[in-house]
Amino acid sequence: MPIEERLISPIGKKGEDALDLSLRPKFLAEYIGQEKVKQNLEITIAAAKKRTEPIEHILLYGAPGLGKTTLAHVIANETGANIRVTSGPVIEKTGDLAAILTNLEEGDILFIDEIHRLSKTVEEILYPAMEDYALDIVMGKGPSARTLRLDLPKFTIIGATTLASLLSAPLRDRFGITHHLNFYEPDDIEQIISRSARILNIEINDEAKKEIANRSRRTPRIANRLLKRVRDYCEVKGDGRITLEHCLEAMKMLEVDSLGLDFIDRRILETIIHKFKGGPVGLNTLAAATGEEADTIENMYEPYLMQLGFLDRSPRGRIVTALGYEHLGLKPAGQDKLV
Ligand SMILES: Nc1ncnc2c1ncn2[C@@H]1O[C@H](COP(=O)(O)OP(=O)(O)OP(=O)(O)O)[C@@H](O)[C@H]1O
Ligand SMILES: [Mg+2]
Repeated sequence: MPIEERLISPIGKKGEDALDLSLRPKFLAEYIGQEKVKQNLEITIAAAKKRTEPIEHILLYGAPGLGKTTLAHVIANETGANIRVTSGPVIEKTGDLAAILTNLEEGDILFIDEIHRLSKTVEEILYPAMEDYALDIVMGKGPSARTLRLDLPKFTIIGATTLASLLSAPLRDRFGITHHLNFYEPDDIEQIISRSARILNIEINDEAKKEIANRSRRTPRIANRLLKRVRDYCEVKGDGRITLEHCLEAMKMLEVDSLGLDFIDRRILETIIHKFKGGPVGLNTLAAATGEEADTIENMYEPYLMQLGFLDRSPRGRIVTALGYEHLGLKPAGQDKLV
């Protein structure tokens, strides 16, 4: 199944974020959690305002659905800057980037999503642009080629990526500021659910809120998606109000368990347990046995399973931990009792 179609996928479905615009915080005060990042940004923004200069280039990295795009727009709103949005895979040729850069105005923010997917040649255009606000254009070919340097207005690049290490070192170094978005605290997720429920006019009690928060994989995008799906259920089966009872029924129907695992997460754990005696099993073998792509397993399923302490990566392969067995109600191999 394509990863975007899973209910608890952190990746946005096509058009989902557009529908979610009303849920997207517009200012820092509405942006819940990530306190350290917010405090730092407040200073950066205030200092830049005082000097009436554009803010430094900012790199945001963190898992999908944690609020990078939202934060880029928040920064633009807080500074009153225009924001232009593009992404790594969209900028195919150096000319594409040159056209974007020459159309910027003083103080503009250029948001480049998936910045790690820029090609090497495009990236090289970005270096002088970020460092010196200059665009180097090569005129002609061969020995008669000349470089023409064009001045660009002072602007800010905000880059977003899921892993900072995916970026080349020279590009990473050109960002004055780097912020890492972490998975959210359960309290923050509850607050996000409360805020979204208020905006969407959903009545929900505290127990149900907690229940949805526990199953949201500490990710705002998943919390908002589960809230909407549970609301649908409650509208059909009840009077629209979200109660704990209906919430639990809805989650059962949606096959999202008490910790936010779905059937694919469980299939991965069960495959390792039943076919490979709990591991270790190599990633490619696991991929073949579960019918999922190795890359998808590694980047999408494993991080949360490892965060829960259900899965270990060892040099010899993946291992299900005692906690993982316990969550599935199974006993670790060779043991009579749960540990
Ligand atoms: N701190 C927050 N407070 C409240 N809601 C949030 C917060 N962060 C994100 N959200 C909600 O989660 C949704 C997903 O956030 P966003 O699109 O910014 O994630 P992202 O990190 O850019 O994901 P991707 O890597 O997939 O592009 C947003 O539509 C927004 O409603
Ligand atoms: Mg995004």
